[in-house]
Amino acid sequence: MKTDPCTYVIFGATGNLSRIKLIPALYHLDTEGRLADETKIIAIGRRPWDNDKWLSEVRDMLDDKARGGVNETVFKRFIARLQYHRGDLQQADCYSSLNERLSDTEAYPQNIAFYLAINPEDFSSVIESLSVPNLLEEKQFWRRVVIEKPFGTDLESSRSLQNKISKYLREEQIYRIDHYLGKGMVQNVLVFRFANAMFEPLWNRNYIDHIQITHSEQLGIGTRGQYYDHTGAMRDMLQSHLLQLMTLVTMEPPVSMEAEDLRDEKVKVLKSIRPISEAAVNAQSFRAQYAAGSIEGESVNGYLQEEGIPANSVTETYAAMKLYIDNWRWRGVPIYLRTGKRMGKAQSSISICFKQTPSQLFKNTQAEKTKQNWLLLGIQPDECIRMQMTVKEPGLEMKTRTTNLDASFRNENEAPSDAYEDLLLDVIEGDRSLFLRYDEVEYAWKIVDPIINKWAVERDYIETYPAGSWGPNERRLFDDERQHWRNTLEDE
Ligand code: BG6
Repeated sequence: MKTDPCTYVIFGATGNLSRIKLIPALYHLDTEGRLADETKIIAIGRRPWDNDKWLSEVRDMLDDKARGGVNETVFKRFIARLQYHRGDLQQADCYSSLNERLSDTEAYPQNIAFYLAINPEDFSSVIESLSVPNLLEEKQFWRRVVIEKPFGTDLESSRSLQNKISKYLREEQIYRIDHYLGKGMVQNVLVFRFANAMFEPLWNRNYIDHIQITHSEQLGIGTRGQYYDHTGAMRDMLQSHLLQLMTLVTMEPPVSMEAEDLRDEKVKVLKSIRPISEAAVNAQSFRAQYAAGSIEGESVNGYLQEEGIPANSVTETYAAMKLYIDNWRWRGVPIYLRTGKRMGKAQSSISICFKQTPSQLFKNTQAEKTKQNWLLLGIQPDECIRMQMTVKEPGLEMKTRTTNLDASFRNENEAPSDAYEDLLLDVIEGDRSLFLRYDEVEYAWKIVDPIINKWAVERDYIETYPAGSWGPNERRLFDDERQHWRNTLEDE
């Protein structure tokens, strides 16, 4: 199904995000026939390139990223949509010349999406500059602005950013992106929970022991040292992606899948999180930094040896925290979140541990110590829904073992699409359900602010973990000695 003709204007088009994600996603949407014939894509960049140079760059990006290789027919159609617009974001003439270009209404559809794939410090000034030639004003056509994360660096800065941009944009025009929400399995969490009756009765503090959410990466910080050293894992992953996952797993059923209904329920969860007092920060959070180690047999540097990192940096590359949701459904159930770079394996998963059964039934047999049930939701690289259950081993003894019920949902011929494809399409379709409303961002900052404030002043020491390991050997977050981090979706 084709969408509204529109013009996608990408600020920061020559940067990494655009190369790796945005341009390939738009190409794939074209492949799927989802872009209207008239749709155009304007790439704004500072480099002194002409259109031909931009097209050859795009070819390189797609040679790298197009699924199944570049299709020449689609490619021809795709590059006919592309224009390179040379301009410096800091200069007014970048916007006046853009305005001039866009005023050719024959060439450029007047529904316009501005995608800010730029340094977050420039978000508000670019929006202000776009307002000068009235590019954000919606009359007959829509005007939308997509803002990448991070939206602020703490509660105060996010409020100030919001105050600035809301002078020029209505909330309905703002698309705050959290690309995690575009991942297939993340959307499946909602379907799994609300389109199947059998788990709902169990989905509460009566049956669930604890929930854990892990996002681990093998990669280090690569060339993003400058950004990362001011950011750290708590802001980069936990405040955004992992808290979002947590809301989807724990929220009440929304009245409908409409954006506002869904976001209302997510906000209720964030508002119910027990605030972490300064005194509780150490008990409820943990940070560490990777030291040199090895990943799949290859030696890799520690964080302090990475490009652009000061020798005394205490920025965390691993962060974990424990939260409690003080509502009827979840009171008392600990939720553990963790993320780390340079970990043993790249994996994102949600693991839900059910309570131990009363095991008197098996007293004095070898089955006495049955394991707890786990429900495992693999987000990447493997998408899966897996229920771990205890069964009797065949044979004469009353012995048990664990087996998996797998509900894999993708058929072999169904290739996963990238999260950005979904999200870029939603922008054109005006569907904001997978984008963040401002109050979600604000409440998420409220949750982590006490932690980042304390870490910001305690700058003399940070625990380390060898690259390639599963992070620091800490147990202080766990409420119960039987609880432990799950590192895999296999039997443990
Ligand atoms: C980004 C973070 O938002 O998400 C990165 O800034 C992180 O540090 C990335 O690597 C993880 O996303 P994905 O989709 O690659 O798992």
